[in-house]
Amino acid sequence: MENKIELTILDKKNFLNEDEFKSKLSEMAPLLEAAKKGEKEYKNFLGWLSVDETAGEEHLKSLCLQADQVRKDADVFVVIGIGGSNQASRAAIHALRPQNGPEIIWTGNTISAMEMKRTLEELERYRSIYINCIAKNFETLEPGIAFRMLRRYLEKRYGIKEASRRIFATGTPGSTLEQLCIDNGYTFLVFPEKVGGRYSAGTDVGLFPMAVAGIDICAVVSGMRNMKNRLLRESAKDNIALKYAVARKLLYDRGYNIEMMAYFEPRLDYFAKWWIQAFAESEGKDSKALYPVAVSASEDLHSVGQFIQQGNPILFETFLQVREKDASVILPYDEKKDYFDYLAGKDFWDINNIARCATMKAHSERGIPCLNFSIPAIDEHTLGELFYLFMFSCYLSCRINEVNPFDQPGVEFYKKNMFKELKKPVA
Ligand code: PA5
Repeated sequence: MENKIELTILDKKNFLNEDEFKSKLSEMAPLLEAAKKGEKEYKNFLGWLSVDETAGEEHLKSLCLQADQVRKDADVFVVIGIGGSNQASRAAIHALRPQNGPEIIWTGNTISAMEMKRTLEELERYRSIYINCIAKNFETLEPGIAFRMLRRYLEKRYGIKEASRRIFATGTPGSTLEQLCIDNGYTFLVFPEKVGGRYSAGTDVGLFPMAVAGIDICAVVSGMRNMKNRLLRESAKDNIALKYAVARKLLYDRGYNIEMMAYFEPRLDYFAKWWIQAFAESEGKDSKALYPVAVSASEDLHSVGQFIQQGNPILFETFLQVREKDASVILPYDEKKDYFDYLAGKDFWDINNIARCATMKAHSERGIPCLNFSIPAIDEHTLGELFYLFMFSCYLSCRINEVNPFDQPGVEFYKKNMFKELKKPVA
């Protein structure tokens, strides 16, 4: 156990029949082996699989050097991006809350006028602003217009030349974004052609903002590599990524429509958002797939907790349990009669842990299948492992469900209507 991520399944009503589970794992063994090598059919989307292709040692060194330059001078760093272009770095930065770095602000992920107004107002509070626009082909509306706003803002504040020095852009070579960098002297970082947004945690897309924030990206990448090697080693019967994908599939076939990720550390809120995007956008096709949602406990136990316990039994849960006791806060004794004395002298961490166990017990006794990922800690290495584990598992899960893991044709539909209204010129 020690430092490993473990998956266990608590299934009081035996929805997952053990024999069926084992037989499905062995049925999927050829798929697992093909996925480990990277299937030819998807070779143009598997740039993330090896980890080294996008985050080799030399590359990380130079990325860290660039990030250090920004860290030395910036008191705020604005990440412009949406979907896969901002989720991984935001997940890691919120989970790890690195200190002594610039403030990180997120924009380009909404079209709300109020949010843009507030962002521009907020920037007034800072002395030294740097920005990073991340967009694969730079065709997405949100980062496109946010980048224009922020560029103009920087130009007004610092003058054209100084603004250029403060602008980083991460895009695919040959894209309009690269051309903007060439024409205007912005620093260009690479969004690898063979990696889609939601698989981009281990590329400049995810790693550069993390490094600027002060996260040890070498540790994140070593976690990814560690998980890759583990998944390569593990055969079908005990491969943690395949087990997760197969459990999801069998539960889906039993009629479960929703998978709810549950965690007791709110700093995982944005990690859960990353996970939701990965699975929903990869798998939600052909009128099938689990709908991934998240509950941040214990807060949400006081809202959707009621539904989980006694509402429509359409969901199963995937818990994230953190083993490390990473903080200790003792509730003091107090002579005032508030009737919480039974907790005096107890540690918040332990109370939270008891709440977690009690929740899983109550939900599983209700008949809700509970998958539990027990993770050693919330740290760089473990987050790297989790990113890779879920990306690989998502790839397997899509293949088991016979959908393409790497496209997202459905998101074009609303855009078509919107662009028509906005009179976007037809290419
Ligand atoms: O996972 C994906 O491919 C998408 O979510 C994209 O990341 C998202 O649509 C943003 O795309 P882009 O980086 O091209 O602006």
